[in-house]
Amino acid sequence: MLILGIETSCDETGIALVSNGNEILANEVASQIPLHARFGGVVPEIASRAHLRVITSMFRSALSKAACSLGDVDAIAVTVGPGLVGSLLVGISFAKSLAYVRHKPLVPVHHLEGHICANILTNSRLAFPFVALVASGGHTDLIECRGPLEYRILGRTRDDAAGEAFDKVAKMLGLGYPGGPAIERVAAEGDPKAFDFPRPMLAAPGFDFSFSGLKTAVLYGFNELKQDPTVREKVPDIAASFQAAVADVLAEKSRRAVLETGLSRLALAGGVMANAFIKETIRERVGCETFVPPAELCLDNGAMIASAGYYRYLAGHVADMTLNGDPNLTLSTELWKELKHQ
Ligand code: KG4
Ligand code: ZN
Repeated sequence: MLILGIETSCDETGIALVSNGNEILANEVASQIPLHARFGGVVPEIASRAHLRVITSMFRSALSKAACSLGDVDAIAVTVGPGLVGSLLVGISFAKSLAYVRHKPLVPVHHLEGHICANILTNSRLAFPFVALVASGGHTDLIECRGPLEYRILGRTRDDAAGEAFDKVAKMLGLGYPGGPAIERVAAEGDPKAFDFPRPMLAAPGFDFSFSGLKTAVLYGFNELKQDPTVREKVPDIAASFQAAVADVLAEKSRRAVLETGLSRLALAGGVMANAFIKETIRERVGCETFVPPAELCLDNGAMIASAGYYRYLAGHVADMTLNGDPNLTLSTELWKELKHQ
């Protein structure tokens, strides 16, 4: 079964063709980083216009790389939320036009289930049930995945997402955008024990996260050092210590989630999992089998949406032309019922 996956929820345009939920035939990704970098973050208006500019040519290029035509596609899966509303609408409108003109089933997908499915795409040994940790620019969620489309949110961030904290700290330290890769690069030269930054929410029961206080602690620490003429030399130590604090919190909460649910597999997902130090810290700490997609599939892409769309299509989750984007869509087993009553 061939699924076309369309992802435009934030600042990456993704168009992919995936066979049977796990074989990538084409995966075209256009990053908008150069367009947003000078603003230090994603500018929604620029993002939606940029999706619009590239989506048709990327679609053609994906078909040509997969050596197939739209006629071969069994269903069209598209991210319907959460995300930036203008960006979501570009992908949804494009998906709707194709579905309408060629009488193809239109399958709505939640962005987070896409991230989770990036693991299914790349590791055939990952079987349900498992715990998923999704850490990206917009989310930090621990999710119990009992079966395809069966989700129970164990905990989530109460303020900033882990990736958002990386982006904000990088901006503070003058390391540019996006912050995650910039901090990881600089941190490689630093001492993760140089600064004792807080590990928020570790003393609290449950699985919620909070990264805003950690970001503020880094800001105060950096401001205190600003009078010091050698402050620039300390940036690698600050970056490494911040990265270690995030890694500790993600690893410890994941360890507890695996223990408490009694599950024996952990799937890591989302842009932050492109970070080698964070992946390794979690792997060492959790003491169970850990899965993580290659870095390029941790970041937003269309293949993960096609994979999730495959499971939704098998379950008969086909939307009509009234399908709309929802910037605040929450993930749950009831998602399809909620989408039907939009
Ligand atoms: O999953 P993603 O591509 O988009 C969202 O759904 O948000 O994640 C992007 C986020 C950004 O905040 C970025 O700074 C972070 O993932 N990120 C990283 C790394 N690469 C990307 N964070 C830490 N280390 C990295 N190497
Ligand atoms: Zn994402």
